[in-house]
Formats: sequence, C-alpha cells, structure tokens
Amino acid sequence: MLINIRYFNINPPTLFIFLLKIKKMSHLIAPSILAADFANLQSESEMLEKSDADWFHIDVMDGVFVPNISFGMPIINAIKKFSNKPFDVHLMIVEPQKYISDFKNAGADILTVHYEVCNHLHRTLQEIKAAGMKAGVALNPHTNINVLEDIIKDIDLVCVMSVNPGFGGQSFIENTYTKVAALKKLITKKNANTLIEIDGGVTSANARRLIDCGADVLVAGSFVFKSDNPLSTISNLKTV
Ligand code: DX5
Ligand code: ZN
Repeated sequence: MLINIRYFNINPPTLFIFLLKIKKMSHLIAPSILAADFANLQSESEMLEKSDADWFHIDVMDGVFVPNISFGMPIINAIKKFSNKPFDVHLMIVEPQKYISDFKNAGADILTVHYEVCNHLHRTLQEIKAAGMKAGVALNPHTNINVLEDIIKDIDLVCVMSVNPGFGGQSFIENTYTKVAALKKLITKKNANTLIEIDGGVTSANARRLIDCGADVLVAGSFVFKSDNPLSTISNLKTV
C-alpha cells in the first residue's frame, strides 16, 4: 500500500513508529555515519539513501561527556541535502537542552539526549517535541532502565548503549540482552509507545537475539562501513 505522507501530514519518524506498532514493518536499521569516510560524505550519504537503511544515525560528541569529539550541526546540515530519510541524532554532549533548535534547523528528525546529563529530563523532552522532533533518551551501559519508569510514556525512543559511548568499533556488552528484555517489559507494563534502539557493536551475530529481546532499531557503524559491501551488509541486517 502506498501512503502519501504529505497528504496525511505525517512526518517520516511518526510514520515509521506507527507502522512498527501495527506490526507492518520489521525492525529498523540505522547505520552510524561515524564510521563513514568523512572525506566522502556525499557519496557515503548517497549510498545510504539508496540502501535498505531506514534512518541515518548521527553521533555528536563534545569531548566533555565523552572522551572524543566528532562533529556538529554544519556536517548534519551538509549531508541533509543528500537524504530524505529520517535523521536520528544522538547527542553525546553536556547541556543538550541549549542546542535543541540548532539541531532541528540542521536537519534532526529524532533527537536523543543522554539520561546522565539531564537534570530536567522531562522538560528537555517536551522542548524537543515542541520543536517538532521525536524525543529519545540514551542510557549508558551502567544506567539501569528503572530510572525511566516515571517518564517512559514521554519517550519516543530509548537508545540502549551496548558499548561505552565515545567511539565506534568497540565490542558489544553482553549484559545488553537482559537490559533490553527488562526495558521491553517496562514499556509493555506502562503501555508506552516507545521504540528500543541498540547502539554499539551491533553485527549480524547479535542482531537476531537483540530483536527477539525487544529491539526495534539497530544502529551499526563499523559493521556496515568497514564491510566490503555496505549495501548488502545493510540488507542482511534488515532481513536477519
Ligand atoms: C558510540 C556511538 C555509536 C557508534 C556505533 O558512541 O554512539 O553510534 O557509532 O559504532 P559501532 O557500530 O562501530 O559500534
Ligand atoms: Zn550513537
């Protein structure tokens, strides 16, 4: 069935979430451009655009919250020209509430902030939604999912970090499976419409088990961009 999203005035992330919830769609794949060739971001973006990827995952790092610096709004704005897919922007920065409209203007469709840096998480999530984006919350590997119990219904997406944030190419932390299953239980118990995203060390070896535990969105950086054929790697993750 062809859905004219302009006619229904539904933005792409809303449509994805709706289709996932009515189980018309399998899990989503969000390749992380952190592992792309930064000297060729146009061709890398064009490759993702024609691939089976659902979203672009975009990692912003400030060198304060995480021990690495990646890029900011100008790069997001530059690659937005080459894509119509939703931009899933993962902020690994302190004081993310200061930059909500800047990331919206740069092209973010989903904006994810870290639980660990938000003193007023409820307010920040409302501000992200008021700016016209979906609101995500990322959890470091040491952060228990129970901290989200009182706010889960306000969250569009929980990004479960399956590595310590800051770098691509790290090994997957095995405790993630238990964590995802517990989060899925919480979402069901609270009757929330929250997507579960897994970020870090995702490969075809752990993708199926993650989905079975309740994951809706898989982020993959190195596994996609360092592979011989990123297009078929993305297709394989999509059909795993
Ligand atoms: C890590 C980032 C991830 C990273 C994933 O801080 O949030 O999105 O790009 O990269 P891989 O898939 O290589 O672990
Ligand atoms: Zn990320």
